[in-house]
Amino acid sequence: MSLKPHTLIEQFSPIAFALPRDLGDGLLLRPATRDDAEPLAQFNGRILGRDHFDEHVAAWTRDFMSLSHPAVGPSNVLVVVDTNAGAKIVSSMCLIPQTWTYAGIPFGVGRPEAVGTDPEYRRRGLVRAMFETLHARSAAMGHLVQGITGILWFYRQFGYEYALDLGGGRSVPFSSIPRLKEGEPERYHLRPMTVDDLAFVQPLYQQGAARSLVACVRPDWYWRAILGGYSPESFEVRLLRVIETEVGRPVGYVAGIREMGYRAFPIGELEVVNGQSLRAVMPSVLPGLKEMGEMEAAAQKNEVNALFFMLGREHPVFDAIPEYFARTRPPYGWYLRVPDLVALLRRIIPVLEERLAKTALAGHSGEIKIDEYVRGTRIIFDRGKITTVEPWEKAGSTEGNAGFPPFTFLQLVFGFRSLAELRASFPDVWASDEAAVLLDVLFPRRSSNLIPVG
Ligand SMILES: CC(C)(COP(=O)(O)OP(=O)(O)OC[C@H]1O[C@@H](n2cnc3c(N)ncnc32)[C@H](O)[C@@H]1OP(=O)(O)O)[C@@H](O)C(=O)NCCC(=O)NCCS
Repeated sequence: MSLKPHTLIEQFSPIAFALPRDLGDGLLLRPATRDDAEPLAQFNGRILGRDHFDEHVAAWTRDFMSLSHPAVGPSNVLVVVDTNAGAKIVSSMCLIPQTWTYAGIPFGVGRPEAVGTDPEYRRRGLVRAMFETLHARSAAMGHLVQGITGILWFYRQFGYEYALDLGGGRSVPFSSIPRLKEGEPERYHLRPMTVDDLAFVQPLYQQGAARSLVACVRPDWYWRAILGGYSPESFEVRLLRVIETEVGRPVGYVAGIREMGYRAFPIGELEVVNGQSLRAVMPSVLPGLKEMGEMEAAAQKNEVNALFFMLGREHPVFDAIPEYFARTRPPYGWYLRVPDLVALLRRIIPVLEERLAKTALAGHSGEIKIDEYVRGTRIIFDRGKITTVEPWEKAGSTEGNAGFPPFTFLQLVFGFRSLAELRASFPDVWASDEAAVLLDVLFPRRSSNLIPVG
């Protein structure tokens, strides 16, 4: 008895690639063109704005629709138009290709974004149809993973599973930020970052990425985009500052995020050079960040009364100045989709072998058959090396060694949950004694704070 392909693991038909695609009732799915830039900016600003037209979303749309955008551009944007209504755009999504790393090993990722359908055209399968095409294109670009940050539950319907932390962090109320005493010199200050600072700052970004099991490679073009290459109205533009001493020696950098929630100014990146005490720096940095937050809030006609260090579950600053943090907000989750698990596991073999070598299972030989109920994977070990990773099909009464309902195994692979946590949450997660030991070694829980290309 062989498994039928699961509906959430798409079998690409030529139709998914063939564009334009007739969806019936005069609806046409096609790649965007440069002429769609302004209509799509208006569409996204209207559909993706919470309760008003969102100028920031419109500006960002113009940016990613630009022919000169290094990663997206019109050809990576899908639109559905209604040919019976003046060919107006009624649904759209874009794909932002990028490279992420897993314990340092790079892999291609397709990030769907700006997903929206006109209210009058919802629940007619337009997003589902666009995903078929987008997933096929992303796979053709060599992406092993698709990752999306999005509304609750919805993307599970398209083969995605929550498998990485998203956001989360701790806040410092403005009221607890110390004022400098009269006449006391400020030992460190913030100054705007420019492209000339990139040689100093890029290694610091990598230092932060190295703390994260899964991290995003930040290309040079994206640094320039967030430094001001994108439209000033876009929320993708970061408020980047260099932290320097009173004599102008740079010791770190910090990135403010313009999109505010909970009356807090989010800080998305914070790094100091090796050997620099964060505890020494922060009393001067906090008032500088507060001032930035107040200025940005005033510009947006918003109110703000706290800094939110949106740096995930773990960050050195949380240990450096614990007495400042008043509140912890747990992360939401990245939805990840891995259509070809075998390909992903093969890519990270060096990490898996290294993990094995460092434990009591060093030199292990044997095999493990992982049953995801809709697909299976077999990994063969020979004296500590992984010699085979291949699809495996449950035949008759042959059991696997461990089972995971779709697609919870991704939570284990991406260090999001431990095997014990998964077993506690899902009665249909199981593992034999040996498989449990092996899986704990291969996939330890490790936190990630991924800062994507957007
Ligand atoms: C969420 C949204 C994009 C869905 O678009 P859509 O074109 O209606 O989606 P589809 O018709 O392709 O729906 C696909 C499936 O999801 C279901 N679905 C649609 N909207 C849903 C919702 N809000 N919650 C849960 N399921 C939903 C559909 O019933 C359909 O299931 P089926 O294929 O089994 O019948 C659309 O409602 C929207 O634009 N909302 C406002 C903007 C937004 O929230 N965008 C997402 C930002 S991350």
